[in-house]
Amino acid sequence: DIRGVIFDLDGVLTDTAEYHYLAWQKLADEEGIPFNRQANEALRGVSRRASLMLIIGDRQYSEAQIQEMMERKNRYYVELIQNISSKDLLPGAIALLDELKQAGIKTAIGSGSKNARTVLEKLGIADKVDAILDGYSVQQPKPAPDLFLHAAKQLGIEPKQSVVMEDAAAGIEAALAGGMWAIGLGPVERVGAAHVVLPSLKGITWTDIQAKLNEAVR
Ligand code: BG6
Ligand code: MG
Repeated sequence: DIRGVIFDLDGVLTDTAEYHYLAWQKLADEEGIPFNRQANEALRGVSRRASLMLIIGDRQYSEAQIQEMMERKNRYYVELIQNISSKDLLPGAIALLDELKQAGIKTAIGSGSKNARTVLEKLGIADKVDAILDGYSVQQPKPAPDLFLHAAKQLGIEPKQSVVMEDAAAGIEAALAGGMWAIGLGPVERVGAAHVVLPSLKGITWTDIQAKLNEAVR
């Protein structure tokens, strides 16, 4: 019996995944490090520090340089999200949040981003969810299950009563590690490990989700 839905933010409710990519690309270009959209696939849903580590590979940088690069990337990202608003919500997002509320299903945001609150406020949905967990909430980032487990706890529900909506492989891994139901949004190559894979939230109702999860266990 499912009692709550935990939504990842970047790439699920809004297309900020693109802005994270553009900010990393700018940093990599400045540093003369080869990077592109293809390489960015490995960074999807991954924490700020772990993302930078994947970009720099075996190049040697001091901790101070690493800190500076993380801050610089974040400045570029913050700049890029300055003008986002409710028009940047992905299709289906609001309809599903509203439907879940009607159905008495709890909702949470489980984002690894330290900018999640700002983004939620700009999107105008900070007050639409029952709990917000972000990049400040836990020590261990996705693919560790900690963030989602913490979210379920805040909603007062068990992991097995929770569904996680994710666009990233690291997030699906985190949901499965936490013993939760996982719905992958995007291509099978990226989120194929999830119980159910959907192209996006567009046109997706709570009834559809329940039916797909039932199919998945049969
Ligand atoms: C995740 C994004 O939500 O947050 C990642 O998918 C990002 O791309 C991570 O690296 C950390 O975000 P931030 O805003 O704290 O650098
Ligand atoms: Mg994401």
